[in-house]
Parts: sequence; structure tokens; C-alpha cells
Amino acid sequence: MALFMVVLVLLFILALSICTALLRWNELKFSKKGLPPGTMGWPIFGETTEFLKQGPNFMKNQRARYGSFFKSHILGCPTAVSMDPELNRYILMNEAKGLVPGYPQSMLDILGKCNIAAVHGSTHKQMRGALLALISPTMIKQQLLPKIDEFMRNFVSDWDNKIIDIQEKTKQMAFLSSLKQIATVESTSIAQEFMPEFFKLVLGTLSLPIDLPGTNYRRGLKVKYPSAFRFSLHSIVSSRLSCSFITLQARKIILTILKQLIEKRRGNQESHKDMLAYLMSKDDNNRYKLSDDEIIDQIITILYSGYETVSTTSMMAVKYLHDHPSILEELRKEHMAIREKKRPEDPIEWNDLKPMKFTRAVIFETSRLATIVNGVLRKTTEEMELNGFVVPKGWRIYVYTREINYDPFIYPDPLAFNPWRWMDKSLESQSNFLIFGGGTRQCPGKELGIAEISTFLHYFITRYRWEEIGGEKLMKFPRVEAPNGLHIRVSFY
Ligand code: HEM
Repeated sequence: MALFMVVLVLLFILALSICTALLRWNELKFSKKGLPPGTMGWPIFGETTEFLKQGPNFMKNQRARYGSFFKSHILGCPTAVSMDPELNRYILMNEAKGLVPGYPQSMLDILGKCNIAAVHGSTHKQMRGALLALISPTMIKQQLLPKIDEFMRNFVSDWDNKIIDIQEKTKQMAFLSSLKQIATVESTSIAQEFMPEFFKLVLGTLSLPIDLPGTNYRRGLKVKYPSAFRFSLHSIVSSRLSCSFITLQARKIILTILKQLIEKRRGNQESHKDMLAYLMSKDDNNRYKLSDDEIIDQIITILYSGYETVSTTSMMAVKYLHDHPSILEELRKEHMAIREKKRPEDPIEWNDLKPMKFTRAVIFETSRLATIVNGVLRKTTEEMELNGFVVPKGWRIYVYTREINYDPFIYPDPLAFNPWRWMDKSLESQSNFLIFGGGTRQCPGKELGIAEISTFLHYFITRYRWEEIGGEKLMKFPRVEAPNGLHIRVSFY
């Protein structure tokens, strides 16, 4: 027995020495002079476990120790984390200086090589220009809003006296509404085949197989997400994403559906008025003409970028409104006033969106309080100096914007859901407002997303009241989601 104890102690000491040596070795490996302060954790895994287990607290603790610009090794990459508002702005504004999007190759493989996050410089300008033309205020007013209105009105039409999972519904809503704007006539017929493949594709871009034995985090995952952890393009993405067979298969099927759609349209010369028609048209001589591959990747970009942001913001708005009846009443007042001036069959139009000031405030407050977007990723194309520190070529930069959302100087009583704080327009135009990103990659779909969520809320709250059942759990980090769904009982108002 005594011998066994001695062996056990020796093994323990050996293990401890190996661990210390590994940690030391990893620190030395990244100890080049001039790097930002911080720790790199274990070889390969870095500090991923701590980051995922402690969530935002990991970031806050590191900031307390090392300042607002520190190094770490998370999600498979040496990373410089910036929580410094000034520096964040600089990084977002200076893509031309070698601070390009840092989304991993495997994600770009899934979303396509012409995907907007995959291209830089003049190609990015062209792709972005083509996209902006598609979702400009004029397009929203003339083309998109009528489709959004028709879709939302029908989508919520039969919810009376039902128990629904609002998480699932808002996901379907975000996808189907975009699909209708892209290919209006065909959207109903292709949706059944397209939607499950699209959901697989999204899951593939969000899956991170992390196999770190013995952590609570892993045990938690086993219960909730067998062998996979999910991230959002708009929140955090890992370089070790799994580009699985199923995901690539889903991309292939989506490509086939879209290629057939394009060929069919070329074949029958019918005229259409939707995003696909605009992308395919050769009329406007000044416009950059996209190849078929670019058109397809542009469509996947639109579907993908607006999907999780719009669906999660809508779900969380429903949640916060449920929890704050007086705010719901205020919002209802705004929408009832708009409805009262219309016949029941009249759509929501561009001119109705402007007066929806409180709705806009509810959307911003929801995005802020829930932090739908934790930050964005960049990587360095060459070694560079930032805030007096050296960031080597190829390092990822995590522009972590989450903490700004809870800054009491910008948002007094930051944990309160208080849409009124946004009624003063200046808050939206502040340089700290990074809910939709900033600089050259600032979200081009901001107004479209707001129009979609506003129209959804219009039909939902003017028709229904609802109550939550089950008090279901909500996860806030690294993604906002209800692991078991968010079930509500809906009845006519
Ligand atoms: C509430 C809704 C939305 C939020 C909170 C949001 C947020 C963001 C953020 C933070 C970025 C910056 C990403 C980066 O810098 O790497 C971004 C970029 C982007 N968003 Fe959105 N977004 C929303 C809705 C939409 C919608 C509806 C579309 C549909 C077209 C869209 C399309 C895009 C695209 C294409 C980019 C990349 C732009 C580029 O790289 O130039 N977004 N979004």
C-alpha cells in the first residue's frame, strides 16, 4: 500500500512537472520581445477551455491583469484580443494596412470563395458595391418591404391558441423571409429542399469539435451539443472549424438548387423583380457584372449574414418584451397607431418604418443587452505595431466589443432593459456603437435587418399576446440561444 502511495505521489509530481514544463515551453515559444502581455496556456489548446468555461469573465480577468490589449491562444490560434475602444476603431478602419477579416479558411470553403468575408481590396469593393445596390433604401422601399410584409403577415397568421417554439419560428422566419426576397416566385417550391440544407450549412460553419476531457464545459456539451460547439460568424469563429462531409454535401445541394434556378430563369425569359433578377440582369452598364459563381456566393452571403442576427434579435426581443409588460404596451401603442390608419389588408410601407422610433430603440436595446454580436475577427497580413506592441504576421485579432455594451458611462444602469435610452438619436451615431460593426466592413444589411424585425414585431404584437411556458434556459455566451427552445403560448390580443 505504502509503495502504491509512493508511486502515486511520484506520478503526480511527474505529471505536474510535465505540465509546468509544457506551460513554460509554450510561454517561451510566444515570448518574442514586444508582443502584447498575456498568457498562452497549453500547447495547441492554449486557453480555449478557460475562455469557453468562464466566458466574458475570462476576458475581464485578463484585461484586469494585462490591460485592454493582451495576447492569448484561443480557439486554435495565437490571438491578440483588443478591448480598447480606440484601438478597435483603428483596426476596423484600417483593412488596407493589413488588418483583413480573420474568418477561418474552412468557413470560407463552406460559404464560397467569392463570399464577401473571403475577398479584400478592390474585389471586396466590387462585391460590397453589388450587395449595397441590392439592399439599398430604395430597394427596401420599392422591392423588398412589400415582400417582407406579405411574408410576415402570412407567417404569423395561424399562431392563435398554439404553443410555439419562438426560437425555431424566428429561425424559419429569418431564412424564409430572405429567400422570398431573393427568389420570390420560386421561394415556396424550393424552400422545402433548401431550408434543411441551409440549416446544415449554418451548423457546419458554427461547429467546433473540442475534445478536452475532464472539463465541466465538455460535460455540458455532451448533454447539449454532442461533440460540437457552436459559434457565430458575427460572434467568434475558430480556425479549427469542422468542414464536415455533411456540411460540404449541404453546400453542394444548395449550389445545385441555385444553379438550376439560374438556368431555368435564363431559359424561359420570364421577367422577375427580386434580388436574383437584379443580380442576373445585364441592363445597368455602370454596374459590376457578377459571374454565376459570384451570384451564388452573394446569395449565400445574404442568406447567411442575415440569418442568425435577425432570428436571435427577434427571439430575444420577444423574450424581453414578455418580461417587461410596460415596454410591450409602449411598443404596442406605436404599432396600433400605425395599424389604426390602415385597413386590415394594407401593408407596412417605407413611410411607416420612420415613425417606428420606439421599435428601433427596442431592437437596439435587445442587441445591446443580449449582445447578439460579441465582436469580430481580423488577422494580420504582416507583422505590425498596434498600441506600442508587435503583432506578428498571421495572428488573429479579436476585436471584442461585448464590454462596451455594458459600459455604465455610455449606458447608465447597463443591465436594465431600457429602450428609452435609444430615443436620443445621438447614441446610435456614437463611435462606440459597434452592434453592426464598423469601418469598411460595417454591416450593409443594417436597415434591411431592422425592417424585417420591425415588420415581424408589428404583426406579432398587434395580433397576439403570449406567455412563456417552462421558464426555459437561455445561454448568453458564446452565442445567444435557448438550448431546449423557447416555448410560448400564443393567443389573440
Ligand atoms: C440585427 C441584424 C444584424 C446585425 C446585428 C449584424 C451585424 C453585423 C456585424 C457586426 C458585421 C461586421 C462583421 C465584420 O466586421 O467582420 C456585419 C457584417 C455584414 N452583415 Fe450584418 N448584421 C445584421 C443583419 C444583416 C442582414 C439582414 C444582412 C443581409 C444582407 C447582413 C449582411 C452582412 C454582410 C454581407 C456583412 C459583411 C460586410 C463586409 O464584409 O463588407 N447583415 N453584420
